[in-house]
Amino acid sequence: MTSQDILSVRNLHTTFTAKRAGRKYKIRAVSDVSFSVRRGEVLGIVGESGSGKTTVGRTIIGLERAEAGDVQLNGKDILSNKNRAARELSLKVRMVFQDPYASLNPRRTVADSVAETGDIHGIFSSRSERERRVAEALTQVGLDPSFGARFPHELSGGQRQRVGIARAILPAPDLIIADEPVSALDVSIQAQVLNLMADLKEQLGLTMMFISHDLGVVAQISDRVAVMYLGNLVEVSDARSLFDDPLHPYTRLLIASVPRIDPALRISGGIEKGEPPSRFAEVRGCPFSDRCPIAADRCLSERPELRQKTAERAVACHFA
Ligand SMILES: Nc1ncnc2c1ncn2[C@@H]1O[C@H](COP(=O)(O)OP(=O)(O)O)[C@@H](O)[C@H]1O
Ligand SMILES: [Mg+2]
Repeated sequence: MTSQDILSVRNLHTTFTAKRAGRKYKIRAVSDVSFSVRRGEVLGIVGESGSGKTTVGRTIIGLERAEAGDVQLNGKDILSNKNRAARELSLKVRMVFQDPYASLNPRRTVADSVAETGDIHGIFSSRSERERRVAEALTQVGLDPSFGARFPHELSGGQRQRVGIARAILPAPDLIIADEPVSALDVSIQAQVLNLMADLKEQLGLTMMFISHDLGVVAQISDRVAVMYLGNLVEVSDARSLFDDPLHPYTRLLIASVPRIDPALRISGGIEKGEPPSRFAEVRGCPFSDRCPIAADRCLSERPELRQKTAERAVACHFA
């Protein structure tokens, strides 16, 4: 952890237990994941559905139990002593979810939803301060403060996600974890919400983990990108180098499948050509070996560690 890191995640493991055909199985949703988020940056987390992105976010905020690992926020362990730190943590790390409709209470006004966590933790000294802070948050996300009196069903999808972002920024958090925040929106609205998040990052100096299965979306907002595959981190890089010169074969496959002109090209790209292996199988070697175009014998038996290649780049591949 360096002084510029807000969040440091070290050797994080999260497992679930599932039953199939009467037998219990361990699902390794997050496997030995290490990364950090620096003050003022957007770290994109990208990977196919099921790669463990959501579980990483949920484990950091304590919604899932870590099997092993260390998570520090501003140098303080936030995995243990959860109860003591809960109040602080729910103000310091805020989530933005994919579906703002599901995360907003339909019977509460927008103002009440935006103020909710602040109310629970008693951060407003008076009614008028609460009103002022809610109006400020709504203005920051491009909504007129009069929206505070409305209910979620009166808003469009884009407006609802703006409310979701207002809820997240109101307590001036240290870190925002946005999990697929634009995936439920129409493409034209996606761009607006992404622009808003980029503007807020600049204006408010926000630090963000931006989780998405869509590399095209991640590319638009991230300073650095972490690529996940089957619970493992396979590459971490500044965004520019990642796109110009991807080091991991899986990253190359992902980039090849980002649509350029016609979304239909996505199918010819590559990512749908192979299916991720079953999570029920224990992976001994490289988790990507059975889809990898350059896999060798070594890749089947020896799991590659995430190695630092340069100050800004790390990759988990025997041949990168
Ligand atoms: N509550 C749960 N119980 C059992 N398995 C789960 C649970 N949540 C997630 N998983 C499994 O963990 C893996 C990672 O899921 P997730 O973190 O949601 O991936 P992503 O967000 O990248 O799509 C998947 O195989 C998923 O099925
Ligand atoms: Mg997810």
